[in-house]
Amino acid sequence: MIRDDKNIFFDLESLASIGKNVIIGKTVRIRKPERVSIGDGSIIDDFTYVSCGLTVGKYTHIGAGAVIIGGNAHVSIGNFVNIAPGCRIVAASNDFTGGGLVGPAIPSHVASEAIVADIKIADHVLLGVGTVVLPGCELPEGVATGAMTLVTPRIQLEPWTLYVGIPARPIRKRESKHILEAAARLDGSPDT
Ligand SMILES: CC(C)(COP(=O)(O)OP(=O)(O)OC[C@H]1O[C@@H](n2cnc3c(N)ncnc32)[C@H](O)[C@@H]1OP(=O)(O)O)[C@@H](O)C(=O)NCCC(=O)NCCS
Repeated sequence: MIRDDKNIFFDLESLASIGKNVIIGKTVRIRKPERVSIGDGSIIDDFTYVSCGLTVGKYTHIGAGAVIIGGNAHVSIGNFVNIAPGCRIVAASNDFTGGGLVGPAIPSHVASEAIVADIKIADHVLLGVGTVVLPGCELPEGVATGAMTLVTPRIQLEPWTLYVGIPARPIRKRESKHILEAAARLDGSPDT
């Protein structure tokens, strides 16, 4: 583990697990570090906020100011994923239809039912700046999103496809061959 100076919010030792050569910015806030695992070579940039269970694979980058929230839900992020600055991955919400009072400030006996659903982001996914991912989404291998894309669970995402817009629509396929070959070379190299 590389300590990017001492984290100001939590003790890095309290994470569920942390791999080799991990960099976590000192202003990254992880509310429940015992529910968070981070794989070898991954980086989480400053001002990122995490308030749910989280698994991050290896060689994954979470850019500055990302928000990953979801109470009791779990967000899993694969290997070689890049999450650009300002993305919001939201694994818990409300249906906004009026079943009760809303939000974490409300006592449970008068609160409406929350929508809580895990999010899975597979290997080689790229999220453009400001992408929003809603509860229950599953992003298959190699999905990419343009800046400010909205991904909802009703959208059936195809692997190795670039999506843009609100809601996300596909605009083209991505070439996987060279990416997968490079990942295999890295996996097989002696310094990994
Ligand atoms: C998605 C992206 C890669 C596409 O770039 P491109 O190949 O040059 O795409 P084009 O400009 O030719 O646009 C293709 C179409 O997608 C639309 N489009 C492109 N990016 C879009 C976006 N972010 N949101 C909505 N629509 C978008 C264009 O309007 C165009 O639509 P049309 O065919 O109906 O006219 C680029 O626009 C983008 O959003 N990049 C993300 C950059 C980023 O966040 N990087 C991370 C840095 S850490």
